[in-house]
Amino acid sequence: MAINKLGVLGAGTMGAGIAQVGAQSGLQVVLIDLEQAFLDRAIKGMIKNWDRDVSKGKITERNKADFLNNITTSTHNIDFQDCDLVIEVIVENIDIKKKAFKDLNDICPPQTVIASNTSGFSITEIAATSGRPDKIVGMHFFNPVPVMKLVEVIPGADTSEETVELAMEACQTIGKKAIRAKEAPGFIVNRILVPYLNDAATAYQEGVASAEEIDEAMKLGANMPIGPLALCDLVGIDVLLMVIEYFYKEFGDPKFRPSLALKQKVRAGHYGVKSGKGFYDYSKK
Ligand code: 3HC
Repeated sequence: MAINKLGVLGAGTMGAGIAQVGAQSGLQVVLIDLEQAFLDRAIKGMIKNWDRDVSKGKITERNKADFLNNITTSTHNIDFQDCDLVIEVIVENIDIKKKAFKDLNDICPPQTVIASNTSGFSITEIAATSGRPDKIVGMHFFNPVPVMKLVEVIPGADTSEETVELAMEACQTIGKKAIRAKEAPGFIVNRILVPYLNDAATAYQEGVASAEEIDEAMKLGANMPIGPLALCDLVGIDVLLMVIEYFYKEFGDPKFRPSLALKQKVRAGHYGVKSGKGFYDYSKK
């Protein structure tokens, strides 16, 4: 089944990125959040990205106008009613996600596939109370979405093969490489990446080196494109802490014990780039 209309629930960094790549690929996109201010901020970010692409000669002003025309924003979930695929990109809290899926089930027609961009929660658990477990799938994107090529596609226990195929096809339509992963905490990338970031935070906490030195060491010594602490700030330290806490609980293995440095940053409200401060200060940038 071809996808024409894409719904995105949640206009934060990831939701805005998914809406942006959808609109750039010629899909009609409905972006929904609780408040108009969140939607306005998301659109402003997209315009900034497209303006940069215009100035680099990668797209024209006309392309930019067409992309913008492809996006509708709303604060009412009812506007998802004619979407072929809706991707949920809301807060990383399993109970809130489960409720959102029930609400989406009430609104969307039976054939609509509903995907979760969860960083690692069980798709089976989200699907179980959704009212349409065969049409629920994980589609896990990476930050920054317009740049990162991968989407992990994760079937839950009752996801139909047709649903998985639609999700894989949607990735192709929006220019992403889909890799199918079995359901397991963190899927492929976060299972490996998040403990690495947590370890970097612990090394920082123990005073092994400064944040700048830890990041530079990993860039120069391991060819990482970005240092781990800068990546914590980019992803969001609150998101990382939630993921590593979930791993700790699910695997019951001390190797996933959350770093005190991550906990302290979250307690202080220093979430990273999005709050203006994390391991680095972004307030003057
Ligand atoms: N939105 C759109 N485009 C962006 C962007 C953004 N937020 N940030 C950078 N770009 C574009 C730039 O415009 C530039 O485009 P160009 O090639 O056309 O000129 C290109 O990306 C490179 O940008 P810069 O030269 O400014 O900067 P860098 O060379 O430092 O690259 C980066 C930026 C690609 C983001 C690089 O720092 C990187 O690879 N970082 C690692 C990102 C990563 O690992 N993400 C995964 C996080 S885990 C996750 O998301 C999962 C979750 O569940 C936790």
